[in-house]
Amino acid sequence: MKAWQYDEYGSVDVLKLATDVAVPGINEDQVLVKVVAAALNPVDYKRRLGYFKATDSPLPIIPGYDVAGVVVKVVSEVKGLKEGDEVYGDVNEKALDGPKQFGTLAEYVAVEERLLALKPKNLDFVQAAALPLAIETAYEGLERAKFTEGQSILVLNGAGGVGSFVIQLAKHVFGASKVAATSSTTKLELLKNLGADIAIDYTKHNFEDLPDKYDVVYDAIGQPDKAVKAVKEGGSAISITGPIPPPGFSFVLTSNGSVLTKLSPYLESGKVKPVLDPKTPFSFEKVNEAYSYLESHRATGKIVIYPIP
Ligand SMILES: NC(=O)c1ccc[n+]([C@@H]2O[C@H](COP(=O)([O-])OP(=O)(O)OC[C@H]3O[C@@H](n4cnc5c(N)ncnc54)[C@H](OP(=O)(O)O)[C@@H]3O)[C@@H](O)[C@H]2O)c1
Ligand SMILES: *[C@@H]1O[C@H](CO)[C@@H](O)[C@H](O)[C@H]1NC(C)=O
Repeated sequence: MKAWQYDEYGSVDVLKLATDVAVPGINEDQVLVKVVAAALNPVDYKRRLGYFKATDSPLPIIPGYDVAGVVVKVVSEVKGLKEGDEVYGDVNEKALDGPKQFGTLAEYVAVEERLLALKPKNLDFVQAAALPLAIETAYEGLERAKFTEGQSILVLNGAGGVGSFVIQLAKHVFGASKVAATSSTTKLELLKNLGADIAIDYTKHNFEDLPDKYDVVYDAIGQPDKAVKAVKEGGSAISITGPIPPPGFSFVLTSNGSVLTKLSPYLESGKVKPVLDPKTPFSFEKVNEAYSYLESHRATGKIVIYPIP
């Protein structure tokens, strides 16, 4: 099969398009998915740079966490999926601990059934691929913070992959009373469209100096010391980029297809939707350009690769 690979850690230049890669075999708990679309996440470039090499799989690595595609092979142990099912998911259960050697930037990927869900019928493969890692991270953070109806939240990096889902889930799934979010100037309208009541331009205001305080602050950019200053008495702050002082906590996503299934009604009703960068999709031949764009930090929403041969 065709697949993007790297056999050393480094810059975008280590990525090579190979045409003679073996189709992965499947274990008892896995299905083989024909990849139709795959999305990039910051973890893909951080991993390629070698940040997680102590816990990574051996090189050469086919990168890619997010997939949307079609099940083409199942084994007897798999009960919930069959050939022909349209599925999506984040193929790495522990994002930083032994992510798969053979990921989603390939024609086929072997995935545990429990990490997948059926693709919502109203979404195409590009839209579905844009969801798993980012929306599951948004959801897991809100759940860990015990975010509940009537509470207020501030989302840092509201226009990013994760932040765009935190706004939507907080507002439309968890029933937030007030959602505030930060971004640069041109993305403020997007924040409002996603459900933010207050859109803060971080190029003009320091959110931590504003009088408003929140039950939960979801830091999806990496400003932990400032984030905790915007927390109300008794509230909490979530960090997804590393350590944070109390009352904050940090976590690393555990991928889980059940979360996608649980959110399916909201996706099918259109209450929650992926935000696709205007340059999306990138063709399979342009995966290296897609990475460069991701690493420029100028994307708005998700970068998806489609079609995959
Ligand atoms: N712990 C976990 O399990 C977990 C899971 C997912 C992601 N993460 C981490 O969370 C962070 C956010 O992920 P994401 O997918 O939401 O990111 P993303 O979509 O790539 O975020 C991009 C946005 O970040 C803003 N930005 C501004 N300055 C930036 C800079 N120096 N570096 C990066 N972004 C900048 C930009 O918006 P403006 O124009 O508004 O500045 C840009 O649109 C990443 O560090 C990622 O690795 C952790
Ligand atoms: C997966 O998510 C479901 C639904 O939220 C939850 O019940 C289950 O415990 C989760 N499994 C893991 C391994 O986290």
